Amino acid sequence: MQQNIYLLGAPGAGKGTQAELLAKKLGIPQLSTGEMLRSARLEGSELGKRVAAIMDAGKLVSDDVVIALVEQRLCRPDHQNGVILDGFPRTIPQAEALDALFARAGRSALKVIAIDVPADEIRRRLSGRRWCTTCKKTYHITDNPPPDGPSCEGIGTCRLEVRSDDKPEAVEKRLQTYEEQTSPLLAYYRGKGAFYSVNGTGKISDIFSAVMSCLSA
Ligand code: AP5
Repeated sequence: MQQNIYLLGAPGAGKGTQAELLAKKLGIPQLSTGEMLRSARLEGSELGKRVAAIMDAGKLVSDDVVIALVEQRLCRPDHQNGVILDGFPRTIPQAEALDALFARAGRSALKVIAIDVPADEIRRRLSGRRWCTTCKKTYHITDNPPPDGPSCEGIGTCRLEVRSDDKPEAVEKRLQTYEEQTSPLLAYYRGKGAFYSVNGTGKISDIFSAVMSCLSA
């Protein structure tokens, strides 16, 4: 059966961390719009150049740009057994566009899992996050350290960096953007059926167990 899962939460709530674990466990791909946009920046594409300043300022890229990216990705053959949406949708118009895409493609209904983490814990997490520009894995200097010192997974080409939008001013703006534009999605999905909420503080493995319990509920 097709499994479509959407992880909803503030910046740094652990959506990417949990999505990666879910993708491994369930054998379905993670679709992260943030990751797609960061890759476009690393490649130096026109899209990457257009969105760089918006992302670094902690604002949202326009709805039409991200909806087009998601639409293309959902058509791929490896996304037909299901998908784990991480960071999309992020506005009501994006959620409505996703509903329309799902209806047109006859996809199974979304299971929505909201991950709840207080703002101070988010600030702490993002100040210690490191990101590998090669394999795109995310770590935390104390809570989720890379396996092999400065080189992620011991691969020579890996390079761990601080994300340009993890600077304190950008984090504050991202938290504000989340409150204003993304948190209304909690009410949007709560009224629609398969909606679950998990406490996102504590050990990554415990949160993963809670997420898995939602899926079997
Ligand atoms: P995006 O990359 O989606 O950023 P985000 O939503 O702000 O989320 P993050 O990636 O910062 O955090 P996360 O929840 O995935 O947490 P993580 O697992 O990394 O988007 C970036 C930008 O792209 C946006 O600001 C916007 O400009 C643009 N964009 C993207 N999608 C868009 C859209 N749909 N529309 C418009 N614009 C869009 O964890 C965070 C840290 O905590 C890590 O260090 C991790 O190791 C650590 N950690 C995780 N879990 C735990 C735990 N339980 N305990 C301790 N540490 C933990």
